[in-house]
Amino acid sequence: MKKSAPTPRLSGARWRRMVREQWSDAARAWDHWEPFNLQFLSAVDPVLLRALDLKPGQRILDFGSGTGEPALQIARWIGPRGAVLGLDVAAPMVEVARRRARLLGIRNARFRRGDIVRIPARTKYDRVSSRFGLMFADDVPVALEHVRAALKPGGRAAFSVWGPIPLNPAIGQAAAAVRSFAKVPPPDPEQSPHPMRLARPGLLPRLMRAAGFRDVRAELAPCYASYPDADTYVTIMLDIAAPIKAIYESLSAANRRRVRERLRRGAQRYRSGHALRIPGLAWVVSGRR
Ligand SMILES: C[S@@+](CC[C@H](N)C(=O)[O-])C[C@H]1O[C@@H](n2cnc3c(N)ncnc32)[C@H](O)[C@@H]1O
Repeated sequence: MKKSAPTPRLSGARWRRMVREQWSDAARAWDHWEPFNLQFLSAVDPVLLRALDLKPGQRILDFGSGTGEPALQIARWIGPRGAVLGLDVAAPMVEVARRRARLLGIRNARFRRGDIVRIPARTKYDRVSSRFGLMFADDVPVALEHVRAALKPGGRAAFSVWGPIPLNPAIGQAAAAVRSFAKVPPPDPEQSPHPMRLARPGLLPRLMRAAGFRDVRAELAPCYASYPDADTYVTIMLDIAAPIKAIYESLSAANRRRVRERLRRGAQRYRSGHALRIPGLAWVVSGRR
């Protein structure tokens, strides 16, 4: 069988610009679909927060904070003597996070635009977290080195990333559907900013150990996405999953209709009572400096 050519890797600058643009573009959808994300993504929070082993009064860095989670949860957990800095490359995401902090009356969380590999090394943190953010860094080993350098000795980092593709059909089906209609095959998920970039079992623990983290642990955190019906699943998924949305929007109108139809049909098997519940599984990987 003829082997397909390896995907050329994007340069760091192109990668970073693409990530910033895609997520800035997706911020409107993340604002609009907040109730959905609070149900779907927040399911990993108990495992993520337990792995962080938070203590009142700590100083925390959360990167890839998007519209403010889990930074806002953590800020409430550590109490008013603690402080959280939420960092995100997409300015429109930061705006939403600030608005949500004001509505919740949270004063110990600040949000600013920034890249995890560009954080000033002078401030040291007790904990560093990221919920579904690490897989979009252009160079994960370098990002992990920066995280480790930002930690106080003995400080902990914990990340959630999506688990194996077959166990995450909501995202897996959408990625496969847009891929099959794209003119140019999209790059390999492990070589591009993709939700499934760190899905392979053992990959992130290995990268964390290589970056010098100790006591590295990986746990599985089950979650599921709940939708009232298949049409809502299709609309949300093609709106919030930034890299998938970018490919979908490059398709012709006819192919967009085909993608939607394929997803609608694929989703029917997840009917559960009066809703559609599509299972998902995340890794929560943590380690100590
Ligand atoms: C899937 S969203 C997760 C948002 C949020 N943590 C949540 O779980 O609701 C990923 C976020 O990571 C941000 N991001 C991507 N690369 C980043 C980087 N190198 N440094 C900081 N933020 C980044 C994106 O802009 C996006 O808002």
